[in-house]
Order: sequence, then structure tokens, then C-alpha cells
Amino acid sequence: MPTWDPAVYERYKAYRDRPALDLLTQIPRDLDPAEIWDLGCGTGEHTVVLSMRHLDANVYGLDSSAEMLAQARKRDAQVAWIEGDIAAFAPATPPDLIFTNAALQWLPDHGRLFPRLVETLAPGGVFACQIPVQFETTHHRIIRETAADGPWAETMADARPTAPAPRMERYYDWLSPLCDSVDLWTTAYIHVLEGDDAVLDWLSGTSLLPYVEAVAFEPELKAGFLAELRRRLTEQFPRREDGTTLLPFERRFFVARRR
Ligand SMILES: C[S@@+](CC[C@H](N)C(=O)[O-])C[C@H]1O[C@@H](n2cnc3c(N)ncnc32)[C@H](O)[C@@H]1O
Repeated sequence: MPTWDPAVYERYKAYRDRPALDLLTQIPRDLDPAEIWDLGCGTGEHTVVLSMRHLDANVYGLDSSAEMLAQARKRDAQVAWIEGDIAAFAPATPPDLIFTNAALQWLPDHGRLFPRLVETLAPGGVFACQIPVQFETTHHRIIRETAADGPWAETMADARPTAPAPRMERYYDWLSPLCDSVDLWTTAYIHVLEGDDAVLDWLSGTSLLPYVEAVAFEPELKAGFLAELRRRLTEQFPRREDGTTLLPFERRFFVARRR
């Protein structure tokens, strides 16, 4: 499990917020949840939005990172912040809403995980999830290729995913036997990033964490890897005339209602 840096993570707040808010707007309007869980809540930004939207609900933010939760706890909100692993999620009371933004991509075996989470819901409950497209994207390909191509390759072998995520149709097949409705879609955002090494900086908050942690105690390998990655990313994502760098970023959305 990577160590999260809330400061780097918060730097791109606007771009990270947008898909979460897009997901929130697709939660069925007639849902009046009494129990809400935000799984992988991070610094709690969206958990707080949920608690403000549903003032009478019990709202829980669960995350495995003590660092992220420490930031979340600073928020003035009626939320129970809980340190724990989504893989072991077993709520005492069935939730009416499970919201999970940009977290489940860190967990394996979605064919078991997604139905298992939906099965914890109360009848009529809603599972609302967003995960980024990773393996298939140009920037992930560049990270993988760079990680496999240098003196750091062996040390990083375990950090590299070896297979693409399942197709959206597979998720439909996993969820539809349990649900009355399954709404799936993808959205491609074009991030307009500012500053030097903008793509590298963006990635350093999330996707790069497992790679950098693999060489955390080998500063020369780490520096070499990051220098080579910077070179390849700059070549692929050049700065534009106005100084910005564009990063296409696609995300997958899932809103399913338990039967
Ligand atoms: C990219 S952040 C998203 C945070 C928040 N949902 C947001 O949208 O800002 C991913 C979060 O998932 C958490 N996470 C990853 N794997 C987890 C697991 N197995 N159990 C609990 N939390 C996990 C990380 O600690 C991190 O805070």
C-alpha cells in the first residue's frame, strides 16, 4: 500500500473533484439514505459533501491511510472517520449508499470485489463508483515501459501492473444479477496542467506511488528512474505555446442500484 502525501494530492484538487461531483449528480434523486459510506475517502472532501447533502444520515469515511484521515479529521463535519481496508469492508448496518471515488483501482479482482460491495447494500441501496482508466493510457504505458527499462527494473517488477482492467461489459455482467439498474459510462477529461514537469507532478500524487516506493531506499535508482520518466513524458506531452501541458485523462463510472 503506497504512502499518500495529502499535500501533493490536494494540489490538483479541481481536476480530482470534477469526476467525483459528476458521479454525485448521477446518484438517483429519490434515494434518501440513512447510512452512507465513502470507501477510500482520502482527505474527506466528498464525504463532507455527502454529509451536507444528507443531513440526517450516518456518514462514514473509510480509508487505509492514517495520513489522509488525519487531514479528513480536521474538517468540521458530522462524519465518522474510520481507518480500515476496503477489502475487509463488512458494515454492521447495511448501507443505503456506497460512494467510492478514485479508490477501487487500488484493489485487485473486481469480479469479486464489486459484487461483494453491492451485496453489503440494503435493498434499493446505491453503489456509486468512479475509477480512472490506467493501464490503457499513454502515460501509464510510458511509466510501465520506463520502469521496465533501466537498472531499477528488477526492483520495480512488482509495482508494474501486468494486465488491463476488465472491459465495462464485464462489470455489467458482475453487477446486473444483483441490481435493478446498472448505469455505466466513461468520460475523458483534458487536464490543462501548469508549471514544469506538469505530468510527472500530477502522476506523483497517485499512479507513481508504487513505483517510487519500490526504490524508496535506493536514491540513485529513484533519481535515475524519475529523470528518464521526466524525459519520456516531456517528449510525449510537450508544453504548449501558452506554457500549459495537456493531459487526456479518462475515467470510468458505475452507478448500480441493489435489487
Ligand atoms: C486517489 S485517493 C482518492 C481519495 C478520495 N476518494 C478522493 O476522491 O479525493 C485513493 C484513496 O484510496 C485509499 N485506499 C487505497 N486502497 C485502499 C484500501 N484497500 N482500503 C482503504 N482505502 C484505500 C488511499 O489511502 C487513498 O486515500
